[in-house]
Amino acid sequence: MRHAVVTGGAKGIGLGIVRALAAEGWRCSVLDLDPLGAAAAAEAGGDHLSVDVTRPDDLRAAFASLAARIGPVDALVNAAGINLTGPAEELSDEDWRRVIDVDLSGTFFACAAAFPWLAPDASVVNVASVMASRARAGRVAYSAAKAGVVAMTRTLAIEWADRGVRVNAVAPGWTDTPLIRGQVAAGTLDLGPVLRRVPMGRLATVDEVAAAVLFLLDERASFVTGHVLVVDGGYLAAG
Ligand SMILES: NC(=O)c1ccc[n+]([C@@H]2O[C@H](COP(=O)([O-])OP(=O)(O)OC[C@H]3O[C@@H](n4cnc5c(N)ncnc54)[C@H](O)[C@@H]3O)[C@@H](O)[C@H]2O)c1
Repeated sequence: MRHAVVTGGAKGIGLGIVRALAAEGWRCSVLDLDPLGAAAAAEAGGDHLSVDVTRPDDLRAAFASLAARIGPVDALVNAAGINLTGPAEELSDEDWRRVIDVDLSGTFFACAAAFPWLAPDASVVNVASVMASRARAGRVAYSAAKAGVVAMTRTLAIEWADRGVRVNAVAPGWTDTPLIRGQVAAGTLDLGPVLRRVPMGRLATVDEVAAAVLFLLDERASFVTGHVLVVDGGYLAAG
């Protein structure tokens, strides 16, 4: 059985990816600080390890333990992420560092920690965002982090190509998850104007994002690497 590891797999997009992988016969382990990761991993026949992706030593130990218990890693999906919003001049140093630490450094640390345990034809998918390519006021750290994820994805793709490891990204647009619902509840996001700028007029579902991830992991994408697959209902196309 193929073994996938999903960071941020306890909730939202990561959980959708865990469930979609399990439905296609993958055994799926979850690295997530949220205790709900245990239920997600149990659904997918894998392990849950409570790991903070900003801690590279903990990630190295986690991948070594998963590889020893379950075997080589056929797929790594990096979905752990946070977003702290606010005007750039008011964003605290700590908030800037936290978003860069989790979203950018956490994604890199997980890739690097997984590398020794990746199967020869393994595949990595990093969850970026449309915010890597399009500015939105109040999201300076998040946009910078996600643009970094895209650049890092391309670099790893060329560095790891000779080992047969493919590295791609998905760039979801606005997706219906606890993160977005939390921003709406906190009053930091008004969905009305947002959805008016999405040509398809609605949020993405986690299943739609997961389907794009599964395509990139699949053998049918065997010559696709260094690519960013946008799943946004036309948001970027609309400019
Ligand atoms: N929801 C959207 O509209 C949207 C759009 C584009 C991209 N994304 C990206 O998709 C990914 C998932 O977002 P979501 O909306 O599902 O969010 P979410 O908050 O619903 O889920 C994020 C998960 O990451 C975990 N996590 C956060 N920090 C962590 C850390 N330091 N170590 C380990 N785990 C950690 C959380 O516990 C949670 O389970 C993120 O990278 C996000 O930036 C989301």
